[in-house]
Parts: sequence; C-alpha cells; structure tokens
Amino acid sequence: TSKVTDGITYVGVNDHEIDLFEGQYDVRQNGMSYNSYVICGEKCAVMDTVDAHFADEWLANVEEALAGRTPDYLVVHHMEPDHSANIAAFMERYPEAQVVASAPAFKMMVAYFGTDFAGRKVVAKEGFKLDLGGHELAFIGAANVHWPEVLFSYDAATGTLFSADGFGKFGALDVEDPEGWACEARRYYFGIVGKFGRNVQAVLKKAAALDIKRICPLHGPVLSEDLGYYLGLYNTWSSYEPEDAGVTIAYASVYGNTRQAALELAAELEEAGQKVSVFDLARDDMAEAVEDAFRYDRLVLASVTYAGDVFPFMSTFLHTLAEHNYQGRKVGLIEAGSWAPTAAKVMRAQLEEMADVTVVDAVVTVRGAVDDATRGQIAVLAKELCA
Ligand code: FEO
Repeated sequence: TSKVTDGITYVGVNDHEIDLFEGQYDVRQNGMSYNSYVICGEKCAVMDTVDAHFADEWLANVEEALAGRTPDYLVVHHMEPDHSANIAAFMERYPEAQVVASAPAFKMMVAYFGTDFAGRKVVAKEGFKLDLGGHELAFIGAANVHWPEVLFSYDAATGTLFSADGFGKFGALDVEDPEGWACEARRYYFGIVGKFGRNVQAVLKKAAALDIKRICPLHGPVLSEDLGYYLGLYNTWSSYEPEDAGVTIAYASVYGNTRQAALELAAELEEAGQKVSVFDLARDDMAEAVEDAFRYDRLVLASVTYAGDVFPFMSTFLHTLAEHNYQGRKVGLIEAGSWAPTAAKVMRAQLEEMADVTVVDAVVTVRGAVDDATRGQIAVLAKELCA
C-alpha cells in the first residue's frame, strides 16, 4: 500500500503473470496494474476491487490501509472483471459494508454474482453525492468509458478524480516504463477506449469544471503533476485528431515483395523528411499498429491479394480500424497480385465507408518482384502523401 494524499491510500496490485490483457493486448514485457484505493474521512470507502487472481493480496492491502477500521462502502466504478471480480468476497468479508454503483452495474452484479446485494446497495448516478465526512464523493456519469455502467467520482476536498479506465495505461507499477506514460497509455486508449471518443469528450467537458489536482485511474500510475499534458492528450485522442504529422505503413506480405514495396516507400518518405512507422501485421503487435494509425495523420496499407480479398491480417486490421471509428486521415494503398490484383479495390471500398478518410488516387501494384515500374509508382505515391 502507499499513501496517495491525505485520506487516500493505494491498495492495488501488480500482475506479471498475465500474457494478454483483456484477452488480446500483449503486456508480457511490463505486466499490468489493477488499481484500487481506500478513502477515509469519518467513514471509509474502498474504490473498486482487482482481478480474480489477486483476491488475497488485495484484501490484505485493504485491511492494512484500513488500519483496524471497518469499511462503510465499496464503490464500484466499473464492472469489468479486472476490477469487479472480488465484490462478493469483499461483501462477505465486511458484512456491514454497502456497495455503491450505478443501476446498470447492479444488473451486472446479478449476472456475475447471482445477487445485487439487495438491502446493502446504494444506487449512484450523475450528481449523486456520498458523504464520507471530510471527503465527499461526487459521481459523474461516464457511460461507455469503457462499458455502459461506468461512473467516475470526484473528491473536492483533495481534488481527486477517480477515472475508472480513463487515463489508464498498460504496465505494472513496480517497473519503470522507459517510454514514459504516453506510449502505453496511447496503445491502451486506442485499443480499449478509442471507439468511444464521443463519450470521452462528454466526460472531459464535465471534468473541465472541476479543480482536479490528481487523477486516480484503475490502471497505471496516479497522475498528479502537469495534468494539462494528460488532459490535452485525451482531448486530442478522443476527438480523433492526429497527434503528430507522420505516416504509418502497415503491410501484410507472403513472400516479401509487398514488404519490399512498403519498405522502399518508407525509405523514400524518410528521405523526404517524414516521420515513418512500419508494421508487419502478421508479426508485430497489431495494437501498436492501431495506435500509430490514430497517432499520425497519414496511413499506408500494403496487402497481397488473397482469394479475391486482402490477406487475413490486413482484413483484421481494417476491421479493427472501422470498429474503432478510424476517421479524418489520408490513406495510400499498395497491393500485390500475380494474376488478378484486387487488394487495393477491396481496401478502398472499406476505407470509403469510414468518415472523412481520403484515399490517395495513386496506387502501387506489385505484380511479382518490385521492379522499376513499381518504383515509379512508389515515387508517385510518396509525392502524393507529402502533398
Ligand atoms: Fe480495466 Fe474496462 O476494464
């Protein structure tokens, strides 16, 4: 446990066993944290629980932070099991405690635990206040950041915003992240919350009216300095505006010819002074490719033609971009095909379904190996991407 500020103690856990967070995000390098906090005034509230694998460690942390006191409330901001798994265990351990959550969260409790703790439930929603004596939690509706039942809460006495998955980050808290906060927070945002930009914008507007001194998310570090930096990034990300000028190149290649074209384009763009980020969709972390597709203002998709369609990894990538509301970017296309190249047509059709995506007219078509004719097309595409 560690002190966050007066009356607030961190009681979360670090997970270094997990391979894929939420079943798909690779966190083998730096693990993951599931955050939980204890806030005490005259009354004590425990803020969320942790993943099922850490019940004992978390309950021990809670007990240590309570230092002999009995918790009055368990506040549930989010019902996804990485935070809610130990609700029933907590309610059993502390039979006097009440659970505070949104109405849809209580429905989910019935589904997960077979009970909504009737007689011990306090239904919260936007505007609801929970007085702890010295601290008062004001609840903020945050539907779909990341699930529909989500609430944030704010303690005016300390200026603390409890932001559920918002402002979360991959990585455990007992290892230093050499890349700083933004890299893994961005991969987390675009993977997990990115689809819900409009909802994030709505909650940021509400947050703007508060005097926030620190943000306590459910994953990643407590943010307490330079909050304008984090809020600014969240504003950029949730408005789908590019964060930086640059080109993400994502390719799906079988024998290396599509890759060759992609790499030659990358070299040409770099020579022209562009920032370039290249991904092999079959081998690199696709969540990183999604992150950079949103980060930069331009994207190039390079795929071999496969069964009259694109290669499966490109299909997954395009599907993920569409699902996450990819929009407002300029996109170039590279296709390959030895007898009937159709990948560019397929990719263009899918991209044109997305809002405000401009597909560059010039297409690079690789018929076999990259030759002088292909290089001529690459030069044209590079020029159009820089125009
Ligand atoms: Fe960290 Fe949406 O759960």
